[in-house]
Amino acid sequence: MNSLDPKIGDCRPRIRQLDNAAINRIAAGEVVERPASAVKELVENALDAGARRIDISFADGGKTLIRVQDDGHGMTPEDLPLALARHATSKIDGSDLLAIHTFGFRGEALPSLGSVGRLTITSRAEGHEGARVLVDGGEISPVAPAALERGTIVELRDLFHTTPARLKFMRTDRAEARAIVDVVKRLAMAEPYVTFILHDVSGDTQGRQVFRADAQNGELFDAMRGRLSRVLGHEFAQNALPVDAERDGFHLTGYAALPTYSRASAVAQFMFVNARPVRDKLLIGALRGAYADFLHRGRHPAAALFIGCAPQLVDVNVHPAKSEVRFRDPGIVRGLIVSALRHALAEAGHRASTTVAGAALGAFRAPDGPARVYQMDRPSDRPSPGALRAGFQAQSPGFGEAPVSGRVEPIADDRETRDHPLGAARAQLHENYIIAQTADGMVIVDQHAAHERLVYERLKARLADNDIPRQALLIPEIVELSASDQSRLLEFSDELERLGLVIEAFGSGAVAVRETPAVLGQTDARALLLDVLDELADQGSSRTVRDRIEAVLSRMACHGSIRSGRRMSADEMNALLREMEATPHSGQCNHGRPTYVELKLADIERLFGRR
Ligand SMILES: Nc1ncnc2c1ncn2[C@@H]1O[C@H](COP(=O)(O)OP(=O)(O)OP(=O)(O)O)[C@@H](O)[C@H]1O
Ligand SMILES: [Mg+2]
Repeated sequence: MNSLDPKIGDCRPRIRQLDNAAINRIAAGEVVERPASAVKELVENALDAGARRIDISFADGGKTLIRVQDDGHGMTPEDLPLALARHATSKIDGSDLLAIHTFGFRGEALPSLGSVGRLTITSRAEGHEGARVLVDGGEISPVAPAALERGTIVELRDLFHTTPARLKFMRTDRAEARAIVDVVKRLAMAEPYVTFILHDVSGDTQGRQVFRADAQNGELFDAMRGRLSRVLGHEFAQNALPVDAERDGFHLTGYAALPTYSRASAVAQFMFVNARPVRDKLLIGALRGAYADFLHRGRHPAAALFIGCAPQLVDVNVHPAKSEVRFRDPGIVRGLIVSALRHALAEAGHRASTTVAGAALGAFRAPDGPARVYQMDRPSDRPSPGALRAGFQAQSPGFGEAPVSGRVEPIADDRETRDHPLGAARAQLHENYIIAQTADGMVIVDQHAAHERLVYERLKARLADNDIPRQALLIPEIVELSASDQSRLLEFSDELERLGLVIEAFGSGAVAVRETPAVLGQTDARALLLDVLDELADQGSSRTVRDRIEAVLSRMACHGSIRSGRRMSADEMNALLREMEATPHSGQCNHGRPTYVELKLADIERLFGRR
């Protein structure tokens, strides 16, 4: 580089062997990025040691103190110096890097921490005396006896005091503390049978408990639900569906929230591979794919998903902090996630999130009103697969035209409302809201949103059978377009034909619409075509053909929906309610908004201060 420098011969760099302290500090640079990464390493070690209870304390965002105590199997006095030696581990023998059953395997974390902070390890293994070892800036002190019941205490003080440059990159105490809480919560999600307690001991105070999750017991799904409720909140647990599916050696478990419980960013997406928290594009992409059909682009699903597999099927040794993994066959994992989640969402039928009604109640309530306690779980009202089929086959041409009749028995008296989760229609307000009485409350339906969803689900069912009936226009509608729009539409014309929309080129820069999907009824062909075009333009080319087709279907469904502002007869309203009950996903519209809100009598009574 500096070949013009006349002194080049004098200062030719020499190759040197670095000493251990420097080697460890370099390794620490990768493994220990911030206090939270130290906490992660120490808690993972505790879990690997079979701990049932882990107590974690930190001060000043973890910069001055991190302390992790566990009741695991501990270490003998002879093992202590080894634990601090680089590449010394009890977890693998080095013969097979693909047979990893523990969080740790590199034998790197403790020596790295010992090189960038003051580290004290006190430990006691069963049948041995307790012992302590200290290491500061890479200097290891002799092992000394120490009193301890069982397990291990690791204390790390003054992190990065040997690497001031790294210290400068630390964020505020509050930000570092938040990162520590996040790390502990993630690990706590993966280990529901272990107790986690986290204290902030900054200053001279006794310390403040910032998180606590007591060990769950019982069956896995109950334990998982209990733990997720503790970490992510009751609302998540109440609105989440269990997921349990297997394919080709991969087992997917966890909970995924209803689309109406979506978030404005991806903050509530947690993925684990063999209990290891990972941030993996493939997995997040699969999660998004599974919900693509139910959520507007700006909304993000909430889920905690656990993938279990033989260690040979996944390489965890691809990232210094082990937060990324590489699957031997990513396609299987993606397919498993997408199909399992879609199945779980379909099973949930027309359920909408409890938060919807909760939020509505909150809005109604006087400021000092009674506390909200709301529950809308109705596992028993899932439609059977047979019922779904029947619903699709016996459909009427659509609510847009003739009043619905014959298909559904009108509800004769209140006793029958008990058999119908969405109740009996009692009134229509503002030409868009149907009020129905249920066995123990009332339901308010947004008729436009609900109908849009029903039309969409019908179209999708027909599409699956390759049988979307079309109706020919008496006079083809000619739509003028730009040349690029024309070619974009024509490129997709085969797919559009499968969807019931038949178009062809009409000179340069125009398209003739010849047939439209019958389910949409009388529709404005021009507006429909422009909407489809918008959808195609929005999507870019990244999505799969199937995704694109479904998105186009969803747009088309809008055109066939009863617009708000149309009066409906009692029969029509009841028919709509019955079809919602029989249709999967009818609890939210195509944009993830709810299609109905339910208020229980008890809630109504609370609104009036009767309870
Ligand atoms: N809390 C603990 N209880 C019992 N043994 C422990 C504990 N922490 C560490 N050890 C022992 O010390 C060894 C070294 O720990 P260290 O974290 O440095 O490496 P590792 O966990 O084996 O691998 P990695 O660097 O991937 O974390 C471990 O293999 C384990 O035998
Ligand atoms: Mg470790």
